[in-house]
Amino acid sequence: MIRTVFFEDQKLKILDQSQLPMQLAYLTCASVEELATAIKTLKLRGAPLIGVAAAFGVAMAIADYDGPSHGLEAYFQRVKSLLASTRPTAVNLFWALERMEKVFLAKHSAHQKELALCLRNEAENMYAEDIKINQAIGEHGQALLNEDCNIMTVCNAGALATCGYGTALGVIRSAAIRNKIKRVWVCETRPVLQGSRLTVWELMHDKIPLTLITDSMAGYTMSLGKVDAVITGADRIAANGDTANKIGTYSLAVLARHNNIPFYIAAPLSTLDFSLSNGMQIPVEERNPEEIRQLQGIQLSLPDVDVFNPAFDVTPNQLITAIITEKGVIEKPFGSELKKLKQS
Ligand code: MRU
Repeated sequence: MIRTVFFEDQKLKILDQSQLPMQLAYLTCASVEELATAIKTLKLRGAPLIGVAAAFGVAMAIADYDGPSHGLEAYFQRVKSLLASTRPTAVNLFWALERMEKVFLAKHSAHQKELALCLRNEAENMYAEDIKINQAIGEHGQALLNEDCNIMTVCNAGALATCGYGTALGVIRSAAIRNKIKRVWVCETRPVLQGSRLTVWELMHDKIPLTLITDSMAGYTMSLGKVDAVITGADRIAANGDTANKIGTYSLAVLARHNNIPFYIAAPLSTLDFSLSNGMQIPVEERNPEEIRQLQGIQLSLPDVDVFNPAFDVTPNQLITAIITEKGVIEKPFGSELKKLKQS
């Protein structure tokens, strides 16, 4: 299984997703500032991975701290704020930072070396847990699918977006092992192309049959009867089940409803945000307009054209058939069912 983030010589190595599918290259982050820049610039991306990488970043920063011991707690808070400021939508980032803070507070009177080791162990635990969680999501999700299934997905919710296996792609992988997948329709996912660059790369590597389409072809493809289910990942799920995911997800959910196709969200419980009662409260990241005006340095429009570039959208819970988690599949009413599951 490909490693998306790991420690080497006290530095963080991250799989540089901005280079895929042309090159499989690792980037070294020697400081937490470098990691923050890598997250902001999408060298690594995907809700679960952003969270776990930030946890590794905290561990690295505390190990490297060379100030007075009385300044360590303030330093921890600065590191936490820096990482928290990288991307606003995926709640897994904040979940992971809170988890690291609990370890820090429980151990911060220990020797710095011991504290750093505890933090690193916690980050490694998160990494290992994430893989198991994805495999459980895959198992629960595949049971929803029949033989010869045609699945549509958007963005990349695969091994690259997690610590391995993936959420939406985890379901597809588990179904493919049972020969249930006829074809995956991969939406290219403008403007950053996580679909055409990353999901295509992963599925081709696993020899799972796929066809790439542009995002605007999704509706027509569904209308031809070529899609049996849509499965996507999630960046944040509000208490009522409203779900933020990559821009274009909401459109797929509307199209799926019109065409009587089930629409599934696959996500770990760490993606749930019970502090938000509905999806309107989810902060949606707006990214640099150049992502739309240009494509890998090639000018696509006039340089001064006004651009709206939200990285995510919110799918209302009414359009979601079920949410697939590591503890099972949730159907409506999502509010009470999600709560029960989280407490179980
Ligand atoms: O901007 P990105 O590439 O980080 O967006 C990623 C997504 O929207 C994924 O679908 C989501 O994070 C789930 S990944 C398992």
